[in-house]
Amino acid sequence: MSNTQSQAYPVWSNRLTYILATTGAAVGLGNIWKFPYIAGENGGGAFVLMYLLCILLLGIPIMIAEVMLGRKGRANPIHAVLAQARAAGLSKGWSFIGIMGVAAGIMILMFYSVVAGWSLEYVVQSASSSYMDKTPADVAAGFGELAKDGSRQLIWHSVFLMATAAIVGLGVTRGIGNAVNILMPVLFLLLLSLLVYSYQNGNFSEALNFMFSADFSKLTGDSVLVAMGHAFFTLSLGMGTVMVYGSYMPENQSIPGAVVTVAFLDTLIALIAGMTIFPLVFASGLEPGSGPGLLFETLPIAFSKMWGGAFFGAGFFLLISIAALSSSISLIEPGISWLEKLGIKRMAATIGLTVLCWIGGAASIYSAEVFDTLDHLTSNIMLPLGGLLIAIFVGWRLGYTRVRKEVSGGSNMLFNLWFIVLRFVAPIGVMLVFYESIKNILASYGII
Ligand code: TRP
Repeated sequence: MSNTQSQAYPVWSNRLTYILATTGAAVGLGNIWKFPYIAGENGGGAFVLMYLLCILLLGIPIMIAEVMLGRKGRANPIHAVLAQARAAGLSKGWSFIGIMGVAAGIMILMFYSVVAGWSLEYVVQSASSSYMDKTPADVAAGFGELAKDGSRQLIWHSVFLMATAAIVGLGVTRGIGNAVNILMPVLFLLLLSLLVYSYQNGNFSEALNFMFSADFSKLTGDSVLVAMGHAFFTLSLGMGTVMVYGSYMPENQSIPGAVVTVAFLDTLIALIAGMTIFPLVFASGLEPGSGPGLLFETLPIAFSKMWGGAFFGAGFFLLISIAALSSSISLIEPGISWLEKLGIKRMAATIGLTVLCWIGGAASIYSAEVFDTLDHLTSNIMLPLGGLLIAIFVGWRLGYTRVRKEVSGGSNMLFNLWFIVLRFVAPIGVMLVFYESIKNILASYGII
């Protein structure tokens, strides 16, 4: 810590900002768009239970390890891992974790921003009542039209990326920190108002039953794997997001305490999002398992028939847009932090990476294949691989004493429990997800 660069390294203005920023990274399209529809597709309750188990056994232990790497290294994912590897006398090759992470963040943002753009479009469509008096078939067809309208998607994709760049370009405390301090409370308030709206206008008991009554006969091997993969995605694990946010964490903040808080909030918000969406879906006699279109096809149908539908519909899609924005900044930050360390000005780094994401996003707008490849490659391969390598690096290579020093506080027994889970349970779990995804990919190309 002797050179001026490390003295100038940013730190969140307080503990709460760290929690809000990391919760903002975690809560996103994964919670509000993906979780309800995959819970719907995989039969509800039993799947929800599996997902909770995965958060507890894989997500939290690996997240503690990843945050620890960041705070100990006080640098972007590539340099943080490199420094740890050096200090422990290990190969420089471990920095691959960081390199893959920076790349994965950019790749995720390339399709994430397109989906976020759809939700911006639906804020406007809702607020202008444009789907209000249409038949259900016409409302659903509206999404199909948007999907074919490249230039319209391109406009929203650009708007969303510019908002992301504006925040990130301002820096860690002035940009990201200030943004999450405003965005997250708005997000909580919006979500709670929508929950009340849904409670009053929807079929709450059927939704409760769907989400929480566990029918294990519906649980297939595949849905267990979907639950595991989603635990990674929703906590923003395996690619350096929580590492870089951890690198800005105040020294006196407890890592396990913060991680458990964030994981709890993330899960709570996913469950509340489900309890907001499904009552509306059931009240309108629609299908809970309708897939990725649940949010953009099914929900507008529900809103189109409801009291205050235009207003609350706009509120709902605004909620999704805000959740997406507080996540998108976390996808690009690892790359920016790395470029800064290489001596590039933050503004220039932001513009460069944003242009890259814009091009990739344009490609995924015009080609469904690019969109799907980016989604699958990152969620099914890069994130689990990153998580696996983090678990092995911290659990097996860094050494007990070094790790114990950084994850300080708490009893030795709790620490040991975590360390054992990190060493054994997490890698085996991840290897299972990983094995299955590789098999699926090979099968989809007809190779096996
Ligand atoms: N967790 C976010 C969501 O649920 C998405 C996200 C942000 C993410 N940063 C990430 C996913 C890093 C994986 C890795 O929408």
